[in-house]
Amino acid sequence: MCGIFGIVTSDEKELGPVLIEAAQRLTYRGYDSVGAATLSGSRIDLRKDVGRVEEVAARCNFSEMRGARGITQLRWATFGEPSRVNSQPHLDSDGDMVGAHNGNVVNNFELRQQFIAEGMIVRSENDGETCVHAVERYINKGYEFLDAIRLAYGDLEGDYAFVIGQANDDKLYAMKKGSGLVAGIGEDFTCLSSDLPSILPLTRQIIRPQDGEIITLWADRVELRSVRDGSLIEREPETVTESMDAVQKGGYPHFMLKEIHEQSRVARELLHLLDGSHEVETILEKIRTARHLYLIGCGTSYHACLSGSVYLAQLAGRPAIPILAPQFTPQYGPAVGHEDVGLFVSQSGETKDVLNALETAESRGMAAYGIANVIGSTLTKAASCWLPLCCGYEISVPATKTFTNQVLTFLYLATRLAGLDTRSLQAIPDLLDETLEMTAPQIQALTPVLNDWDDMYCLGYGATLSIALEGALKLKEITYAHCEGMLSTEFKHGPLSAVRQDYPVIFVAGPADIPLIISGINEVRVRGARAIVIAEPDPRLEANASQVIPVPKSDPHIFPLLAVLPLQLLSYHMSVARGYDPDFPRNLSKTLTVD
Ligand code: M6R
Repeated sequence: MCGIFGIVTSDEKELGPVLIEAAQRLTYRGYDSVGAATLSGSRIDLRKDVGRVEEVAARCNFSEMRGARGITQLRWATFGEPSRVNSQPHLDSDGDMVGAHNGNVVNNFELRQQFIAEGMIVRSENDGETCVHAVERYINKGYEFLDAIRLAYGDLEGDYAFVIGQANDDKLYAMKKGSGLVAGIGEDFTCLSSDLPSILPLTRQIIRPQDGEIITLWADRVELRSVRDGSLIEREPETVTESMDAVQKGGYPHFMLKEIHEQSRVARELLHLLDGSHEVETILEKIRTARHLYLIGCGTSYHACLSGSVYLAQLAGRPAIPILAPQFTPQYGPAVGHEDVGLFVSQSGETKDVLNALETAESRGMAAYGIANVIGSTLTKAASCWLPLCCGYEISVPATKTFTNQVLTFLYLATRLAGLDTRSLQAIPDLLDETLEMTAPQIQALTPVLNDWDDMYCLGYGATLSIALEGALKLKEITYAHCEGMLSTEFKHGPLSAVRQDYPVIFVAGPADIPLIISGINEVRVRGARAIVIAEPDPRLEANASQVIPVPKSDPHIFPLLAVLPLQLLSYHMSVARGYDPDFPRNLSKTLTVD
């Protein structure tokens, strides 16, 4: 959440366009407000406002901004409402320093009170400003800039990355504590950013700073020093060879649609990787002998944990406890120990709720393994070993391809644990493509019908409960309609009272559960509901449902992987038809690095 980018060039130039492009690449991290600052001699030009990059850049004329140093920030609001004054970057009291952060400074309130008492000018409620004043405090006491940053690091509690520059200087400084930060070295510039993809169009020579390091950027070099004692840290730059195609829309109108259509390719790549992975052996061995097995994640990743729990029990007879990450510490923290194993699942590998649970697990001696998409993320470094999801960049805020590969990873692990042949899974990538092709026309036709409603249910049972929950989450996330996911059999215990004429109820009917689902369908249909069923072709469903959306025939364990695709497509089309941008739903951020 929130994104920062900074650049230092050898000559003064128009930095505005560079900052706008960097901000556009970081948009997925937050789009409540945008700001840019350029530094040139004694002058700091700071422009910022509420809104998306394109709007704010045009309104504030970012493109005319000049300097040899520049900073931009994208905000996902936590401390302070989205407003111009809370937008970042921020100035210090005298206006000769400017800085911005991503992450969360948890003692923001206390520090602001101290700064006000010390006579500093505090203009906003935002913790990015607090970072600037934390440095100012030590400059006022006579410390050199670098030492002031080192001391500020000790005062700022929480997880964040922070960049700052001062007038009449030729450098930018940054530090990192728990949040991602990458530095890049180009021909006649250096830069840094919250993530790697936003740097790659500029340079492929990068340095990855670690927590507790201060980064100084000159136009021609990057220096790392320890916050502890200021000592120099040697680290050679690495060359990144990844293709940038992954972060382009590739002809699709939105990243989400592109990522939905990438699912067969990434599933194929994942299966190939899992077949040759030593980490799979290590994790399976631990799962076999664990006292209790916990599957831990948030949002979509938690739904994948629910699928995992069903697969492990149904296929391999191995009970596994799926748990939302923030609930792990209060509920199971006191009870877990070294005999237990946790699988921590996260697309970003940076979700704070997940990292908190991981910390609890490790402090209790539990074996902690990761399943993550972003290589080099905090989860991949903190877990004893981890499995990559092989999805490449997932830019769109709604997770799609990473969900599919999370579920597939669990299906693979359960199949292996059961001693079954994983070649049965090789059919999945083609089935995913067939499903998209088969369901797309019906989903497009259904879109205007469902878009008349702002309230609906999505019901599943057994291995499809997680799919119903995931479909409902996707619908809520990008259409802003209310869609509740639930166990189909629970519907009659209360929510049935919502049903009226044409009220939409979507059923995800696994091949093993058809008779039970038919009962549910009839319970709602006799009360006037429109019962839409995602299922394999089946005459019994045709006879009972208002509408069947057929997916290709497979088996009860592969079916959930296929059934989620029409729900992803439905959310996408409903969102677009409502005039929203499904890639960047309001109020959200792709990476949630706060509690
Ligand atoms: O990066 P993570 O998988 O840890 O993120 C967890 C959730 O924030 C995430 O899955 C969220 O629910 C998705 N945006 C939903 O599409």
